[in-house]
This record gives sequence, C-alpha cells and structure tokens, in this order.
Amino acid sequence: QAPPAPVEYAERLGFWKVYGYPEAVRILADPQTFSSDTSRFVPRRDFVEGNLPTMDPPEHHKLRKLVSRAFTPKVVADLEPRIADLTHELLDRVKPDRMELVADLAYPLPVIVIAELLGVPSSDRHLFKQWVDGAFSSSEQFSLVEPSEQQQRAMDRAFEQLHHLTDYLGEHAAERRRRPRADLLTKLVEAEVDGERLSDAAVVNFANVLLIAGHITTTMLLGNTVLCLDAHPGVAARVRADRSLVPGTIEESLRFLSPFAALARVTNTDVEVGATPIPTGQMVMVVLAAANRDPRQFTDPNVFDPGRDPNPHLAFGRGIHFCIGAPLARLEGRVALNILLDRFPHLRTDPDEPPAFLPSPNLTGVRTLPL
Ligand code: HEM
Repeated sequence: QAPPAPVEYAERLGFWKVYGYPEAVRILADPQTFSSDTSRFVPRRDFVEGNLPTMDPPEHHKLRKLVSRAFTPKVVADLEPRIADLTHELLDRVKPDRMELVADLAYPLPVIVIAELLGVPSSDRHLFKQWVDGAFSSSEQFSLVEPSEQQQRAMDRAFEQLHHLTDYLGEHAAERRRRPRADLLTKLVEAEVDGERLSDAAVVNFANVLLIAGHITTTMLLGNTVLCLDAHPGVAARVRADRSLVPGTIEESLRFLSPFAALARVTNTDVEVGATPIPTGQMVMVVLAAANRDPRQFTDPNVFDPGRDPNPHLAFGRGIHFCIGAPLARLEGRVALNILLDRFPHLRTDPDEPPAFLPSPNLTGVRTLPL
C-alpha cells in the first residue's frame, strides 16, 4: 500500500493534515511559524490562561520553567514504590479469571497518582471521571468549514464539564493559599518566576490540564500496550521471558498506537512544508499516529517490535511542548506492565466481549478492555 502524501488539505474539514515524519518534526520544532494557540478557531476563551499546551513563547517558556521545578525527575522517580503498591492493591481486588483492565487498573492507577501528587482527594475520582468523560464523549469530527450544530453542542457540553473541574480545583487552590501543604497545588500557588506569581486562573487551568492529562493518556497507554501484546502472542511470550524488553514494549506501544493521534498548530506566516505551500492563518493537524508509521523513518513500520532501537516516535510530541508528564507515564507503564505479567500468566482478550474504543477521532485508546 502506497503511503499517503505527507501533507494534504482536508477540503471538507477546512484544515491541513500532515502525515509525514520529517514534516511533522519540522512543524513541532518551529513554534515561531506554527503557533499552538488555536483559540482563534474556538469561539470560547474560558481556559486560555495557564493552559501550557496552547501557549506560545515567551509566555510558554516562563510557565514551563515554573512548573518544571515542581515536576522534577526526582519527584517522579520517588513515586515508583507508591505506583507499585497501588497497582498491587488494585489488582488484589480482581478475580483471578476475569478483569476489565480499564475499570480495574488502567483508569484508577494514573488518576490516584496524579490526584495524590496535586494534593486533591483521590476518593473524589468518581467526580473527575464524570466530568472528564463528559468533556471527551463526542465522536464529532471537528470541521472549520461547516461547524455542525452537533459540534457546537458538543463543545458547549465539554466546556460545561470542564468548568465543574476548574471550580473544584479553584476551591482546593484557595484552601492551599490559606493553609499550604506538601503538594503540587501548593507549589503552583507559591511558585515565582522573575518575581511574579501565577494568577488564580493560571493555577487552576494548569492543574486542570495535569488532572486531565493524568487521566486519559496513561489509561490509553496501558490499554494499548495490553492490546498490542494480545495481538502479538509471540512478542508477548518474549517480553514475559525477558523483562528487559518491558521499556521497549512501552515505547513501541506509544509508536504503534499513539494515544494522541494528532496535534493542532496554526500558521503565523506563509510557509512551505515538504513541497506544499500553506498560507498564513491556517490550522494544521500534525497526525502523530501516521508520522509514527512513516516508512521513511521506521523500517517495517507496521511490525510491533519492542526491540526497535532507536525508536524516535513522536507520541509525546517534540520540541518546546514535549510532554512534561512523559517520565511519569513511562514509569507507570513500566511498573504496571511488569506487575500485570507477574500476576497474570494468561492475559488474553475475550473474543465474546471485544474491547470498546474511545469515541473521539483524535484519541486512540480503549474505554473497556475485558480480559
Ligand atoms: C504535552 C502526550 C502523559 C502532561 C504533551 C504532548 C503530547 C503528550 C503529544 C505535546 C502537545 C503539543 O505539542 O501540542 C502524552 C501521552 C501521555 C502523556 C501520549 C501518556 C502516555 C502525560 C501525563 C501528564 C502530562 C501523565 C501529567 C501528569 C502534559 C503537559 C503537556 C503535555 C502539561 C504540555 C507541555 C507543554 O506545552 O509544554 N503530552 N502525554 N502528559 N503533557 Fe502529556
């Protein structure tokens, strides 16, 4: 099958799609030309302040520096024993012959970890789930040409749900200003860059990004990894026998089934990508899922190979917005996969009860995965 053209204009949707690996890297490495601020295409500005992924330099640089201080490699590495204990606790409740991976492990584990890190009660996770699921329940394909009424309704619903989450986080942030604790929320409230503190809205919106990112992404990673191994029993046997392949399995799962299928950028000027001219002011979707299977970059891109080395996939992005949670996601993935393999010698999907996938076209992950 011939690979698609690396860049194309999606007439019906009103934006560009970039499928090629070098073209994707070129875009992600040039935030001057390709802005992350897509708010001009969204008729609402509720969550703009402090929303790190949609900020451009120099504001992005300032906030990133500030939050990187609270989110250091040591903070993440120190979480390993807690992640292992939690994984065991969650699996202790599972019947030996049957589990639903998402509800039993892949959802609660990352949510409890991020809630504990932020300092909000993880026992409130049924509330976060309700709001986050509500915000990401739409299967509408986003179109700039003909925004349908359904698309508008889905967006209103998503913003309504996200407001519940920010109201909740706002109460906790206000409490930390009064009574500081040893948690990330307190660090965000107290952090200063160049003598400036974050505004209340910025603290809350950033905490919101973390809570959402902590929810849906690692859940997708765990589900996708188990699916990849299930589809490749020979590879699964190799990984079971040689656990040094576990980190490579996580990386290959990220490449093979990239949780965030696409990232949005907006052109700040007329520009050429590959040989394709793109005018200023256009939305460009960088399709990570396609770039991660570009045969110009990856030999046998459709083969699932945990031994692939190097594996420079783009599942965590590239450049200034490279995922700040990548070390945490990798750690959770590694710890959980090792423990799953230890405790379940026959981990297989159930042909009578196939997995259900998330409805959003930009998210690659399961909603339920009976095993
Ligand atoms: C950024 C993917 C887990 C927090 C990103 C980006 C990608 C990504 C592709 C770049 C966005 C862009 O360039 O527009 C993933 C995947 C994950 C994961 C696949 C799990 C498998 C996490 C976790 C957290 C997190 C666990 C937090 C605890 C963030 C934040 C940013 C980000 C705050 C914005 C960074 C910036 O703009 O400078 N992530 N992520 N992510 N991620 Fe993750």
